[in-house]
Amino acid sequence: MRDYNHSILEGVHLTIGQTPMVRLSRLTRGLAGDIYAKLEYFNPGFSKKDRIALKIVEIAEQDGSLLPGQTVVELTSGNTGTGLAIVCAVKGYKFVAVMSRGNSVERARMMKALGAEVVLVDQAPSSVPGQVSGEDIALVEQETERIVLERGAFRAHQFQHPGSLLAHEEHTAEEIWSQTGGEFDVFLDFAGSGGTFAGCAKRLRELNPAIRCYLVEPAGAPKLAGGSVTNPNHRLQGGGYNMELPLVDRSLITGFLTVDDEEAMEAARRLAREEGIFAGFSSGANAAAALKLLREREKGARIVMSVNDSGLKYLSTDLYE
Ligand SMILES: Cc1ncc(COP(=O)(O)O)c(C=O)c1O
Repeated sequence: MRDYNHSILEGVHLTIGQTPMVRLSRLTRGLAGDIYAKLEYFNPGFSKKDRIALKIVEIAEQDGSLLPGQTVVELTSGNTGTGLAIVCAVKGYKFVAVMSRGNSVERARMMKALGAEVVLVDQAPSSVPGQVSGEDIALVEQETERIVLERGAFRAHQFQHPGSLLAHEEHTAEEIWSQTGGEFDVFLDFAGSGGTFAGCAKRLRELNPAIRCYLVEPAGAPKLAGGSVTNPNHRLQGGGYNMELPLVDRSLITGFLTVDDEEAMEAARRLAREEGIFAGFSSGANAAAALKLLREREKGARIVMSVNDSGLKYLSTDLYE
């Protein structure tokens, strides 16, 4: 773990990463096997997406695609935007976050507080308020590109920028390896951009080719598994966008899992009640998927999952009502 006791850091961006890992022994009571949860809400923006925000900006500074004084723009469900708002504040870039109105209001508030300009895009007429669909994302994408052109901005492009994968390959995966001493069998993740899954699966498989990597999708939209998409409107904010993911190398996927809204919410509530871990919908999806594996396909396995962000980001929803 990072040692904060012997130095003064030159900016809050230097606290990104090196998050703790906790064994979920209360959640797994009565089941053979283990779940190890990496607590990504310990990042300064309270989510794992701080990692990619820093990595993308650092790479762009190095390769000259982001110039001093240039504006940074990104399409975000809130967490990448919060990470970018923090990194841009510290490094002195203006940041514009483009987000669907379907995402929770805490996120927009937090980005604004961090100095970002937040552009909210109306949901598609067929979408359900609070449930961001692929169609909604397509609308946000259009608006994002328009703003990038208008402002001559640098677009972070979390769905395709190599930094989205490298942050996890070089850091998250290495941390997982060192925290577990390599003693685990399974990694799983609910995919948004798929950067966490792709980066971690790549590095962890290099370190131990026997590690099995499962990709988690919403029950009504198992797009990457090739299943039929019956309900693209789900509540698992941050992922399950029902689209192809350029960052994900399919050869790293051992298998697919699906989780429905209720299972994810129940698991998030159990994380809070039983483990004292206050997290969001997608963390609940990961925990529900890990429990399913222990009950079915991976009895007795040691499973690593990410707790992606803080439950504080969902107080306006009924997750913890
Ligand atoms: C809360 C939350 N969970 C999961 C994800 C998905 O992570 P990734 O983009 O690495 O697949 C995101 C991404 O924005 C997120 O904000």
